[in-house]
Amino acid sequence: PMATIPTDRSPDSTLAFLRAGYRFIGQRCDRYGTDIFQTRLLLEPTICLRGRAAAELFYDADRFAREGAMPARGQRTLTGRGGVQGLDGDAHRDRKAIYLSLMTPTAVRRLGQLFTDEWQARLPAWELAGTVTLHTEVASMLTRAVCAWAGVPLAGGELDRRTADLLAMIASAAAIGPRHWRGRLSRHRGEYWVGDLVGQVRTGSLSPPGGTALRVFAEHRDGDGHLLPRRIAAVELLNVLRPTVAVARFVVFTALALHDHPAWRQRVPGDADAAGQFVQEVRRYYPFFPVTAARVRRDFDWQGYHFPRGRRVLLDLYGTDHHPELWPEPERFRPERFAGWPGDPYTLIPQGGGDHLHGHRCAGEWITIELMKRALAVLTEFIRYDVPPQDLAVDLSRMPALPASGFVITAVRRTG
Ligand code: HEM
Repeated sequence: PMATIPTDRSPDSTLAFLRAGYRFIGQRCDRYGTDIFQTRLLLEPTICLRGRAAAELFYDADRFAREGAMPARGQRTLTGRGGVQGLDGDAHRDRKAIYLSLMTPTAVRRLGQLFTDEWQARLPAWELAGTVTLHTEVASMLTRAVCAWAGVPLAGGELDRRTADLLAMIASAAAIGPRHWRGRLSRHRGEYWVGDLVGQVRTGSLSPPGGTALRVFAEHRDGDGHLLPRRIAAVELLNVLRPTVAVARFVVFTALALHDHPAWRQRVPGDADAAGQFVQEVRRYYPFFPVTAARVRRDFDWQGYHFPRGRRVLLDLYGTDHHPELWPEPERFRPERFAGWPGDPYTLIPQGGGDHLHGHRCAGEWITIELMKRALAVLTEFIRYDVPPQDLAVDLSRMPALPASGFVITAVRRTG
């Protein structure tokens, strides 16, 4: 006989989810003493999961599908419609392979170098400015770097507008009200912008270097020789630009971690192992994507519980990264925990778990780690700065989270 999945009493938990934010699933799991419970979200019964075994289950593509899993609100802002996130099976694998072809070690390093170069070019202005807000400045540098990397031309006056739109798509991910509508507007403009560039590549009026994301998505042909519909190519290109700019959030968390754990300022320079551990712990510890969603593909039973076909399931990414059975003292920031870490595709999952090609694990994980290492090097080796009094609190009910101040630094001076 099947056990009943522990069930939240309230008729709908959407507001509770928005209020509790990153801790919503973890708190209830702790309360029920399980890693699984059922609730109603957006008026729909939803099974919530966390932990290693749950992640392994969730990334079994025979049991879960992505089509129709993402709420429409999120598609209208964060991801767009028709992109790789909502594909299954062969269609997913073929589309995902395009992304992975862009992520060779050489290409990833090239993007890292563009970011470092951009940052160094700005340091004289930072020294003069007196005050710099890290989040928006780094986002702007990342926009420049990733557009150059992706073959996307950016006119001088365009940078601030494009950066603001890419940031708004990210900020609107779980928003209701004005932040949601700002995100929709930005997505609209963004898809129009890069869709137009795709069109120009196809007519030959624009010729980005071979192997760049713009060129690759504009010219890719599927097994039947068809080009991607222009709007889909635009959605996929934005799937490269937008999340790369979102790495600015992890750069801010890197700066916050250095601020709270200043001993690491001395440990990181010249020690690639220490730098790598630090970056992993930033990715584990700080909140970014709370959950990811799928639907049950066909009826099955797991650990004595029944999963009916079509049921929406959320995997708690943040809660798995903070699971006390996987991470001793999960609420302590301790990069040492990654010394000699053998790696596990189902325990450290800030960017999803499982396999990159056959599953939905983030295509940009290597880029993210590279850019964070570059930022760590600048912050510890290339500059000194002061962190004036400000509101650095990270509100875990705000998704996606960020220190309230955006991380302001002053008195920047170059050391190298
Ligand atoms: C998917 C997180 C950076 C491209 C995902 C997923 C998460 C995630 C949670 C969904 C996993 C799932 O549903 O199973 C992050 C975080 C980033 C980041 C926290 C840090 C800023 C990037 C970058 C890129 C990128 C830099 C591209 C250059 C993608 C793509 C997918 C994805 C294309 C969809 C993969 C698929 O559906 O197969 N990411 N990501 N991400 N990410 Fe990232």
